[in-house]
Amino acid sequence: MYLMLTAVSLAYRTGNNVTPYIANLVGRDLHKTADHPIGIIKQKIEDYFATIDGVKFEIADAMDPLVSAQQCFDDLLIPEDHPGRLPSDTYYVSRPGGREASSSEDLLLRTHTSAHQSTLMRKGYEAFLCTGDVYRRDEIDASHFPAFHQMEGVRLFDPALVGEGEMSREEWLASDGCKLVADDLKRTLEGLCDALFGPVEKRWIDEYFPFTEPSFELEIYYNGDWMEVLGCGVIHSGVLSNCDLSHRHGWAFGLGLERLAMVLFEIPDIRLFWTGDERFTSQFKAGQLTKFKPYSKYPPCFKDISFWLPEEGFEPNDFFELGRGVAGELIERIDLVDSFTHPKKGLTSHCYRITYRSMDRSLTDEEINSLQEELRKQAASTLSVELR
Ligand code: PHE
Repeated sequence: MYLMLTAVSLAYRTGNNVTPYIANLVGRDLHKTADHPIGIIKQKIEDYFATIDGVKFEIADAMDPLVSAQQCFDDLLIPEDHPGRLPSDTYYVSRPGGREASSSEDLLLRTHTSAHQSTLMRKGYEAFLCTGDVYRRDEIDASHFPAFHQMEGVRLFDPALVGEGEMSREEWLASDGCKLVADDLKRTLEGLCDALFGPVEKRWIDEYFPFTEPSFELEIYYNGDWMEVLGCGVIHSGVLSNCDLSHRHGWAFGLGLERLAMVLFEIPDIRLFWTGDERFTSQFKAGQLTKFKPYSKYPPCFKDISFWLPEEGFEPNDFFELGRGVAGELIERIDLVDSFTHPKKGLTSHCYRITYRSMDRSLTDEEINSLQEELRKQAASTLSVELR
């Protein structure tokens, strides 16, 4: 008992919030599996970029998902108080300064492939496609999973084309060179959408990212709805000057592969990407965009859990994480179904509905009850909530 407590408080102090369930997902390399939907989409995109005249995009798909806060945030001008840096949103492996104190040396599971932009540009890459698994603490439903895959694309331009010599940030933003880079970015990514989806209607939305300026989001009209495909922009002068590339300019984009694969293969649930069930894996072949044929969906089972929140410091993501830790991908979703504040006590109560469902088999009552019991126990002991 004493030993266990020591281990827990040590992990707490060093700020490690990576659960064994998450640690087990690292290294699966779905994006490097040629017959897997994620690997197939990645290859399709790489094939498209190989057709672009005059640039060779280097392939970087084996970068370590464990990065420093310097790489994931600081190099990208993401401020220290940005919510994406909080341990409620990000999986930290270690925080030498303590659980809440952020520093550049913190080690974490990358939250986006942009974490490799600066490293690769410093290495001298002029154009690259960098694909990998990324990790974010998030809600739980059919389209959210704490691990997914992104592809980052970067292209730097010949200074003779976009403007030589150093310019101030304002001069650059107002220049023809900046417009040329943004136009090339948009043309390239519109071509990518057509290559993946056939000719589709597209629209550009102004966005904000700290590391690109200007920044955009691309949406396509698909199956009767506008769908966000990617974020992108002209690389921020500050990012380039941090890489000793103040005389250079270029563009960057980042796209989520699951979102694309779910529509192109008609895969209804994000957990399926991670299943080893051969009824799933045997359906896909390199180079082919075949539609997924659902195998029987097993029945769901709903269980509610209600508790009083502590007066402060309750993070729904911590509860979702407990769910993943206890039941892994046997949880299909968790919904907040009721929330109210007691008028006298001032305490707030949450009721969450947990949908248990396996992708591969029927779950027994016994199994679900014991998972639910374990979840209740862990919620009470680790989240300072009072079960009702
Ligand atoms: N990293 C951003 C995200 O995860 C996407 C992005 C990449 C935006 C490159 C701009 C440039 O949302």
